[in-house]
Amino acid sequence: MKRVKVGVIGCGGICKSAYMDTMVNRFAVIDVVGAADKIDARAQWMADHYGVRKMTVDEILNDPEIEIVVNLTYPESHFEISGAAMKHGKHVYCEKMMAPAFEEATELMRLMKEYNVLHATAPDTFLGAWEQSARKYLDDGLIGAPVTVHAQVTMRYQPESPFFDTKPKHFFFPLHCGGGFPFDLGGYYLHEMINLFGSVKRVTGFGGNLNPRRVFTNPQHPRYGETFTVDTPTTLLAALEFENGVLGTFHISSDSYLSQSFVVTGTDGAMKLGDPNMTNARLSVTRAGAAPDMETLMPGMQPGSGSVAKAGGEDDDVQQLVEFTPPQTVELPLLHGFYSACRGVGLADMCYALINKRRPRCHADIGYHSIEIIHGIQESCQTGKIYEMTTTCGRPAPIAPSAYSATGQERTLDD
Ligand SMILES: NC(=O)c1ccc[n+]([C@@H]2O[C@H](COP(=O)([O-])OP(=O)(O)OC[C@H]3O[C@@H](n4cnc5c(N)ncnc54)[C@H](O)[C@@H]3O)[C@@H](O)[C@H]2O)c1
Repeated sequence: MKRVKVGVIGCGGICKSAYMDTMVNRFAVIDVVGAADKIDARAQWMADHYGVRKMTVDEILNDPEIEIVVNLTYPESHFEISGAAMKHGKHVYCEKMMAPAFEEATELMRLMKEYNVLHATAPDTFLGAWEQSARKYLDDGLIGAPVTVHAQVTMRYQPESPFFDTKPKHFFFPLHCGGGFPFDLGGYYLHEMINLFGSVKRVTGFGGNLNPRRVFTNPQHPRYGETFTVDTPTTLLAALEFENGVLGTFHISSDSYLSQSFVVTGTDGAMKLGDPNMTNARLSVTRAGAAPDMETLMPGMQPGSGSVAKAGGEDDDVQQLVEFTPPQTVELPLLHGFYSACRGVGLADMCYALINKRRPRCHADIGYHSIEIIHGIQESCQTGKIYEMTTTCGRPAPIAPSAYSATGQERTLDD
């Protein structure tokens, strides 16, 4: 089997907790040659634990064997590393979001064309089990024609929260430019919405950086009591209009308490989606006749249908009983693979895209469009006007359903 050689730049949190393991141990198509980080000890740790070479950034960029640079640096370094890699003729797979600023993302798209390389970007969780199953159920018409989508995720990112690192050197990207909550968690929701409905036509929004001046309130923090500045939007409440006519809300905040919901409504039902940061959530549908046919399960009984009294003409004493089927909510089986530990599935898909000469499902078109959506919402917050999108992206090709074992799941990418 042909394997694609990759070099990893950025050996911080996500590399250590997720990527390196899946790249080395899970996806056969990925061949990790080496890893680099500006903090040398982090690359050394990867070399010691995964048998890859510790390299410098320059060594990775200049290694003729390496086809793809996997950019796992924090968002503020994405532009620098992805740009340098493309200028060295490397394909790039970059963690979310592709660049903090729309202008930088535009330049990366230009470099992709100029150097005739592929650029793919995370989030790749829309390739996961529930995300792909939701797409299939929708495309099969389970809830009729989709009408609206509602995404809401809120979580308090505060210095006193467990998320806030107590080491002063640590760079906590969700509170920095381009790393804020709309970029950090928002990307997952936008990519799944694009997977389900395609491009967005126009956006409008309220909110922004609600509380830029903060105080270190964690007594354990070395800078306890000092003030610091947050320079990224923290709360956005937006409306989206998709090209296909679906209307959406997108409510994302790191200023308010924990909440999460993601729902699609259609002409014949509503589907409750999971958290698109995860791939193993549950899916359910509410619609008439959603429950199994009880007549088949329990012959002679019909608990699935009921009767309702209906006013009959002028005299209320004439009641007409009509049969009706009340809406029911049932959990839907997941039809696809990639339901656990699959960060990097987008990279594996990109490797197969190179081998099979097809488009990668995480093509940067989607990451670019998502960045413009966040950019457009921010602009609308400031101008009070509707922002008309200038970019488009097609829906990525769906993955074939698979009821195979864990090892069989990768086969569905080889298409
Ligand atoms: N942490 C998570 O839970 C998580 C989850 C999903 C995705 N991500 C994404 O993964 C990316 C990295 O996040 P993280 O949490 O691992 O961040 P991190 O800060 O823990 O790690 C980033 C690493 O990149 C290195 N780096 C930065 N600039 C560099 C440069 N120019 N050259 C070489 N090395 C450089 C840093 O030294 C650091 O080790 C982000 O884009 C983030 O959105 C993170």
